[in-house]
Amino acid sequence: MSQAPETSTSFDPADLVPLGEQPTPGITPRRMNSWVIRKERHGEPTKSFQLEQMDVPEPGPGEALVYVMAAGINYNGVWAGLGKPVSVLDVHKKPFHIAGSDASGIVWKVGAGVTLWKPGDEVVLHCNVSCGECSACNGFDPMACENQRIWGYETPYGSFSQFTLVQSQQLLRKPKQLTWEVAASYGLVYFTAFRMLVDRAAVKPGEWVLVWGASGGLGGFALQICRLMGANPIAVVSSALKGEMARKLGAVGVINRKDFPGLAWKPNETPDETKARMDAAKKFGKAIWEIIGEKRGPDVVFEHVGAETFPTSVFLANRFGRIVICGATSGFGLHFDVRHLWMRQKEIIGSHFANAEQCHRANELVHAGKIETTLTKLYDFAAIPESHEDMLHNRHSGTLSALVGAPRAGFHNWKETIA
Ligand SMILES: NC(=O)c1ccc[n+]([C@@H]2O[C@H](COP(=O)([O-])OP(=O)(O)OC[C@H]3O[C@@H](n4cnc5c(N)ncnc54)[C@H](OP(=O)(O)O)[C@@H]3O)[C@@H](O)[C@H]2O)c1
Repeated sequence: MSQAPETSTSFDPADLVPLGEQPTPGITPRRMNSWVIRKERHGEPTKSFQLEQMDVPEPGPGEALVYVMAAGINYNGVWAGLGKPVSVLDVHKKPFHIAGSDASGIVWKVGAGVTLWKPGDEVVLHCNVSCGECSACNGFDPMACENQRIWGYETPYGSFSQFTLVQSQQLLRKPKQLTWEVAASYGLVYFTAFRMLVDRAAVKPGEWVLVWGASGGLGGFALQICRLMGANPIAVVSSALKGEMARKLGAVGVINRKDFPGLAWKPNETPDETKARMDAAKKFGKAIWEIIGEKRGPDVVFEHVGAETFPTSVFLANRFGRIVICGATSGFGLHFDVRHLWMRQKEIIGSHFANAEQCHRANELVHAGKIETTLTKLYDFAAIPESHEDMLHNRHSGTLSALVGAPRAGFHNWKETIA
C-alpha cells in the first residue's frame, strides 16, 4: 500500500528523514521514502509506482550509499513500470524495484575498499554496473562484462528514493555550475548518445547524421555531440516548436515527420500500404537531399525509435552508411528490406549506454561548458509517476528531472542547500 510521506519537522534522524528535510551528516537513517514498483502492479506509471518506506541499504565492498538530491526521468522507468518487454524484478530477483538511472547527490557512506571518494563528495552518477573483476572490465570494455547491468533498471536500488546504492566506479564529479536538478538530468541519455556517435559509429568531421527524435533526451545531446565533432546533424521532429528547439541545439536542417504521412512502418502491412510507405520514405529522402545539397543519404543514422522508423533508416542511409541503434520505442521487432543494406554495404551497429571511461570523458565536456544541459521540465518528488506518464504518452521534450532531497530548485551544492 502507498503511504503518505512524513512531513513533520521533529523527527528521529536515525529513523526516517521527512522529504524536504536534510539528514544529519554522519547519521544514516534506517528507512527512506522511495517510489517502488512491485510485480503485481505492473502497468502505467501512476499504477506501478507507489510510495513506500524502505530500509536504507548498507554499502558493501566497492559500493557507495548516495543521498539523492535530484533524479533524472528516463524512458527505462516507463519500461520498468510496464513490466515490458520483461519484468526487471525477474532480472535482479528482488521483490521490489526502485527505478531511476540518473541522479545528483552526496556520497553519504562508502563500503570497504573505496578510496577515491568520501562522504560529502558532490556527485552525479552513471548507470553502468559491471563485475570489475573479469577481463572485459580490466582492459577491454566493461559493457562486455557478462554481469553488465543498468543501475536503477536491472538493479533494485535506483534514484527515485532518498538514498541509492551504487558501485563507486559509477561516481562522477558533479559540475559545480549546475543545480542539483540539472545535474541529475543528463547522464543516461547524454552518455548513451556519446558512445553511439563517438565510439561506436565513430562519426567523422563533415559527415551528415540523421537524428530521429532530435528534441528528445538522446536526440538533443546527439545534435550537440555531432556539432562538437564537426559533423552535420539533421533533426527529425514532430512539431515546429520541437524543430526550433533542435535548431538551437545545433541542427543544420530540420524535418517534421508529420509532413510525411504513411512513413511509419505498421505490422501486417498490405502490399499497397508498403508501397505508400516507400513513397513517403522517398519524399522524406528528398527532404534530406535538399538539406545536404546533394542526392545522397546521411552517413550515419541515429536510431532509437525502432519498428516504425528502422526500415526508413536502412533505406535512406548513404552507401556504406552506419545505422547506430540503442533502443526501440515504437517496437522491437524490426522489419526491413535487407537488399538496401547489402547492396549498398551499410552497417547496423548496436550500442548500449557507456562505460565509466566514456562517461568520464563526456562529463568533462559538461564541466568545460561545451555541452549544454538544459532541463525542460522539473517535477516534485510526489509527481515522479506523472513524469513517467508524460514520457509514456510523448507529452514531453528535452530532459526531465525531479527533486528528491533538494527542498527546492536552484541549489548548487550542499552548503547552499542547508543554509
Ligand atoms: N540502450 C540504452 O542505453 C538507451 C539509453 C537511453 C535511451 N534508450 C532508449 O531510447 C529511446 C529514446 O529515449 P529518449 O530518452 O531519447 O526518449 P524521449 O526523450 O522520449 O525521446 C524520444 C523521441 O523519439 C521521437 N519518437 C517517439 N515515437 C516516435 C515514432 N513513432 N516515430 C518517430 N519518432 C518518434 C519523439 O520525438 P518527435 O515526436 O519529436 O519525433 C521523442 O521526443 C527509448 O526507447 C529508451 O528506452 C536506450
